[in-house]
Amino acid sequence: MLTAARNEMLTRVGSGTPMGELLRRYWQPIGGASELDGKDPIKPVRLLGEDLVLYRDRSGRYGLIDRHCPHRRADMAYGWIEDRGIRCSYHGWRFDETGTCREQPYEDTTNPKPSKAGCEIKAYPVKECAGLLFAYLGPLPAPELPVWEPFTWENGFREIVLADIPCNWFQCQENSIDPVHFEWMHDNWGARLRGGDGNVAPKHLKLKFEEFDHGFVYKRVREGQSEEDRYWTVGRVALWPNAFYLGSHFEWRVPVDDENTLSVAWFFMRVPKGREPYAQERVPVWKSPIRDESGRWITSHVINQDIVAWVGQGRVADRGKENLRSSDIGISLMRQRFFKEIEAMAQGKEPGGIIRSANEAACVPLPNMAHELNTEGIPLADFDKDPILRQRLREFRHHYGQPPEVRRAFVDAMGISGS
Ligand code: FES
Ligand SMILES: [Fe+2]
Repeated sequence: MLTAARNEMLTRVGSGTPMGELLRRYWQPIGGASELDGKDPIKPVRLLGEDLVLYRDRSGRYGLIDRHCPHRRADMAYGWIEDRGIRCSYHGWRFDETGTCREQPYEDTTNPKPSKAGCEIKAYPVKECAGLLFAYLGPLPAPELPVWEPFTWENGFREIVLADIPCNWFQCQENSIDPVHFEWMHDNWGARLRGGDGNVAPKHLKLKFEEFDHGFVYKRVREGQSEEDRYWTVGRVALWPNAFYLGSHFEWRVPVDDENTLSVAWFFMRVPKGREPYAQERVPVWKSPIRDESGRWITSHVINQDIVAWVGQGRVADRGKENLRSSDIGISLMRQRFFKEIEAMAQGKEPGGIIRSANEAACVPLPNMAHELNTEGIPLADFDKDPILRQRLREFRHHYGQPPEVRRAFVDAMGISGS
């Protein structure tokens, strides 16, 4: 149980709040690069309570700037891109990706010594990696963007799925360190939803949580498994500070503001052994709906089920009313680490997991239960022996609403029939 003040500390993300400042020290994924492939590569985004505009100019530079023009506050999302930067559609001021005002057409024409001092627009750095775009909203110099090892894997089909979640980010992130929910939410409830009966999923018998620089590894033994199993020997990662890494995919819970979260999921599926080389031109990005036509939450897919839990906890979960038990040890550990990091940052220390060395950031390994599968690959015939892989070939079970063209591209990559 947490006091209201401690709950606020975990959940408030605006500029100047303790958690808002902590999260600003880390690169945050804000979408996929291919979202900006069209003829109008400008996208309004809201991130950590700030209204911003993401764009790619004609030279391929990414910019993330204030939503409002510093001249008279027009909406920069209705501007247009130039060879360098973006131009406001109201009076034509042009800004580059550093926020410098490069042009003020009327002043530049009529004033022999135009001054643009004080006319900078707020701007944040953006980097592309593995098809994702990451933004950094913290103090400069920015740390290195960690290139997680899976981002370097080759011969795989990647896709990025976004979802708008109407609740605070922290309850989504708590789900990243909650092994027992798999048994109930995905296995038993999933079976009920498909018309089955009985609570037959293998029970969790034992849990363990281990802290490391980039978060926590959780390990578990379920009925029918032993301590020899990779779920115990390797485990899964609650990735610091706001993500979940499960071997072949990542899920980030990116705070939009105190009451909204952007779910960003990145998936990798290696092509069957023998189909190499496979090179993906662009990583597809799609938005997953979370409600059906009647307004109810969609429950058919795995992450949609998680979303039902997150939004069900309320817009901002009231942690004064909960009852933590031993299944929630990971959640307590994660909260404690956030409090510790916030405290350390207040004393001027660098928070954990931040990488300043380019060498180190170039390929950051993580505990991975599916390393061989994703790097060496396995023959198509062997997919059939693993129920999860077999299912993965048949349909995309993580998020509802995969567009048919993404399915077609996947089917082509894997060399399977589309039915
Ligand atoms: S408001 Fe943007 S140029 Fe005037
Ligand atoms: Fe889940």
